[in-house]
Amino acid sequence: MSNYHIKHLEEYYQVYRKSVRNPESFWEEMAEEHFVWRRRWDNVLTWDFEKPEIKWFEGAKLNITENCLDRHLPTRGEKTAILFEPNDPKEAAQHITYRQLHEKVCRMANVFLEQGIKKGDRVCIYLPMIPELAVSLLACARIGAIHSVVFAGFSSNALATRINDSDCKMVITSDGSYRGGKTIDLKSIVDKALEDCPGVTSVLVVNRINGKVTMKEGRDHWLQPLMDDAYADCVAEVMDAEDPLFILYTSGSTGKPKGMVHTIAGYMVYTAYTFKNVFQYREGDIFWCTADIGWITGHSYIVYGPLANGATTVMFEGVPSHPDYGRFWQVVEKHKITQFYTAPTAIRALAKENLDYVEKYDLSSLKVLGSVGEPINEEAWHWYNNNVGKNMSPIVDTWWQTETGGIMITPIPYVTPTTPTYATLPFIGIQPALMDGEGKEIKGNQVSGRLCIKYPWPSVARTIWGDHQRFKDTYFSAFKDMYFTGDGALRDAVGYYRITGRVDDVIIVSGHNLGTAPIEDSINEHPAVAESAIVGFPHDVKGNALYGFVILKETGEGRDRDNLRREINQQITEHIGPIAKLDKIQFVPGLPKTRSGKIMRRILRKIASNDTSNLGDTSTLLNPEVVQQIMDEVL
Ligand code: WT7
Repeated sequence: MSNYHIKHLEEYYQVYRKSVRNPESFWEEMAEEHFVWRRRWDNVLTWDFEKPEIKWFEGAKLNITENCLDRHLPTRGEKTAILFEPNDPKEAAQHITYRQLHEKVCRMANVFLEQGIKKGDRVCIYLPMIPELAVSLLACARIGAIHSVVFAGFSSNALATRINDSDCKMVITSDGSYRGGKTIDLKSIVDKALEDCPGVTSVLVVNRINGKVTMKEGRDHWLQPLMDDAYADCVAEVMDAEDPLFILYTSGSTGKPKGMVHTIAGYMVYTAYTFKNVFQYREGDIFWCTADIGWITGHSYIVYGPLANGATTVMFEGVPSHPDYGRFWQVVEKHKITQFYTAPTAIRALAKENLDYVEKYDLSSLKVLGSVGEPINEEAWHWYNNNVGKNMSPIVDTWWQTETGGIMITPIPYVTPTTPTYATLPFIGIQPALMDGEGKEIKGNQVSGRLCIKYPWPSVARTIWGDHQRFKDTYFSAFKDMYFTGDGALRDAVGYYRITGRVDDVIIVSGHNLGTAPIEDSINEHPAVAESAIVGFPHDVKGNALYGFVILKETGEGRDRDNLRREINQQITEHIGPIAKLDKIQFVPGLPKTRSGKIMRRILRKIASNDTSNLGDTSTLLNPEVVQQIMDEVL
């Protein structure tokens, strides 16, 4: 019992040591004491990073929704599980109790069954941040279907790619969504996507905006009437610990998105345990994570982690700038939020606005502030600490990834002394390593290298849907017997970690993970474009923005440059989504390449960042003259 909630630094070190000396017995104890199982496991852990194959709690049977819902009914049935705050502050908030949530999940699960969805089938969820989004994840889990949530800001093309990659049979969507002052017509995006998705046999539509939509006979159904007619109870499917719970796509260094597969039991145990400690959650707290459920942060810390702990979790439909820049703080005051978890890009955007927007509201309910998604710069850290936390709420800078399922390196608030820009110490059970270019571990402190993890933790992704080889190549091949994160990090004199950023071709823009390859592929499809290269450059709100270097075909040379820029961004918006648009596009005569034909992005990054005093070694370039030509015309 005692190790579930860590309360002081000595205890952290003691539990940490225990968790790495004997991980199996540590996680077994957690699993045993804090969750309900239909059958006990035969093995706590079997693993092989070579294959790679990782299994936690093999042989155990359970249903995650019994852990997130049913078991709370006797003691917390009337407690708010989901607190929904709509986009429009004038629309009433909804308090959905555990009992009501249980009923909604059961009804929706029964609708899914009627639609012919069975255990193991994939269901694509493309919804705005409304309660039905959380309900649909849990309804899938109730019957053992595998959910694949696609963030509702993705384009129809991106949606179709994801639906087809995992062969989804059904799509859950809405007529539209409210985002700040805009409404977005989601159903027509789905309709367009489904022109290329022959495997989808049914579409369930939530009525959110009373929008005009076309419903395809036999395929499309309004969800609510079906739920009203469905039974209010649904027997939970008994699942294996290692059955997939969900697929969630993340960008990679090559074109195709990677469908990360998370399995049930390990994911449940780790997200619940991290939620409890990283946010020092206590009964009665009101937890608000501002992420969208379309990202892993929302899966783990809006839905599964909080609900497994019987917590009240806030779902916010809106944006931080609507109706004005005080919206976040108004919601904190209104619902007496105790833990607030957001992204540095939001903090930087709000820090640019008048302080009145923050000072107007009573933020005294706050106990813990969280940050996630990208490195938090010193200035943003202090602004958050001074103006939101009033120097009283510790900031937890949480480092983790879609692939890790849960928070990996983080302070524990009121336990770990924090340092701005440092994610500080590994969480319980996490064994980080810094590696050098030769594949050797760099021991000791005040060193930096590539960040790897040496030993499995319960919520590590198990594979990439349909492409286990890519899973191995991406995460388990760079360093022997290690999980490679793709990030660089340093370890300071006291052993604190600071994440320095990606060391691969992924760029983090406003906290969104973007691979360069899919964006370049999209640009190159433009008829006037011969070749392109994308790099990131520092941006004061987004963290990084995208800079594109584009070579035109001869036929494109005579075209108006600004029109071309617009067309290129339009094309990216259609292929990927508006988040991947380029801030700057420079037309260039060539790209710096090595003799083996590889674009030397290091040089382009320096040019884009206006940091050309020392370009480093350019001796391996095939075409050094092009560097000067690019620099002469830099934007
Ligand atoms: C990448 C993973 C997991 C939550 C959302 C992002 C970067 C994430 C931090 C942090 C510095 C961070 C890393 C990581 N990142 N959190 N606290 N400090 N960098 O998930 O989209 O899978 O992106 O986000 O580069 O590898 P994701």
